[in-house]
Amino acid sequence: MQIRAAVLEQFGEPLVITDLDLAEPKAGEALVRLVACGVCHTDMYTASGADPSGYAPTVLGHEGAGVVEAVGPGVESLAVGDHVVTLFSPQCRECEHCLSGLTNICIAIREQQNKGYLPDGTTRLFRDGEPVRHFMGTSTFAEYTVMPEIALARVSKEAALEAACLFACGLSTGLGAAMYRAEVRAGSTCVVFGAGMVGLGAVAGCRLQGAERIICVDLSGDRLELARGQGATDLWQAGPEIVERVQAETRGFGADYTFEATGRVEVMRQAVESARMGWGLATIVGVAGKGEQLEVIPRWLIQGRRIVGASFGGVKGRDQVPELVDRYLAGEIDVEPFISHRLTLDQVNTAFELMEAQDGIRSVITF
Ligand SMILES: NC(=O)c1ccc[n+]([C@@H]2O[C@H](COP(=O)([O-])OP(=O)(O)OC[C@H]3O[C@@H](n4cnc5c(N)ncnc54)[C@H](O)[C@@H]3O)[C@@H](O)[C@H]2O)c1
Ligand SMILES: [Zn+2]
Ligand SMILES: [Zn+2]
Repeated sequence: MQIRAAVLEQFGEPLVITDLDLAEPKAGEALVRLVACGVCHTDMYTASGADPSGYAPTVLGHEGAGVVEAVGPGVESLAVGDHVVTLFSPQCRECEHCLSGLTNICIAIREQQNKGYLPDGTTRLFRDGEPVRHFMGTSTFAEYTVMPEIALARVSKEAALEAACLFACGLSTGLGAAMYRAEVRAGSTCVVFGAGMVGLGAVAGCRLQGAERIICVDLSGDRLELARGQGATDLWQAGPEIVERVQAETRGFGADYTFEATGRVEVMRQAVESARMGWGLATIVGVAGKGEQLEVIPRWLIQGRRIVGASFGGVKGRDQVPELVDRYLAGEIDVEPFISHRLTLDQVNTAFELMEAQDGIRSVITF
């Protein structure tokens, strides 16, 4: 079939909105009609050429939600008409990692996905017979996509898909960091560095876990106000004195849980140093620049502080994205404040400009 899609042709150039051919789903795959798709930093990062593992031509986009229109042979967990959220982090439930129960990092299709291919090592996207690669295994800046069954989370049909799409990346990453990775305990004190989509999700996750005090730290007053809406109890302007301030307000001990959602290594260090001696846990979620290093004084660890990282917030996509969407439907997660702009596919480059200007939290493309 013919579809319209936003193609990364040349690094550093605007995406080109054009017609492509999309082949039918093969075994274990599904055809999804996209209804909504968020625009995330990772899309822009790859488009800029800064990502050393990037490739072109490719259809970008990975925060998609839509409806299953067809399934290939052997697909059992999905049916035509199902509402789905796309997963750049699949869950096969069969590989060594999935079976361990210890991680959400599924290794079933990793190698081909990293190269922009579907699991059988080919593409379903073509232009004039030439293959076009599938970015992050998702390629959701398009009217339709073909994806592996194991990379689609079936969610409640009651959820508006323009809200559900945010659970495909940033929001789930933040929520999951607090709920599934750190497993924040009720009554605890948390510090969240960064109030973008990910940090705001972490604030909401800490609240859902019953944290007593949630300090959010950011440079932007507007973003801190959004954090208040998600449950932050304290809004602090970012600066070099944050570690001392956390200690001063916790009788010199530090916070039970800290979260870093800025991608800056100096903030990661603050997150480690403001975690409580004895048991404080710093969860690193931000993606630092290539080659950057996190400096940690070993004594901070001897004193019982711990550091963990999380990809996709530790969320097991097919099991837990539907759970998170249900909590949104139950009124426990307020998604509307995150949708700052609604755009068409043709305006995808405008979404990048808005992101660069830090205008709003998320632009959502609706089809
Ligand atoms: N681990 C994952 O799977 C995963 C998934 C999605 C995003 N990410 C990463 O998470 C990070 C956050 O993503 P986002 O979409 O929320 O980004 P964002 O740019 O919208 O938000 C980052 C926030 O950090 C704030 N900030 C900058 N310097 C600060 C400082 N010194 N102290 C406190 N706050 C500061 C900014 O004002 C901004 O509000 C990025 O690095 C992104 O690449 C990781
Ligand atoms: Zn993303
Ligand atoms: Zn797996």
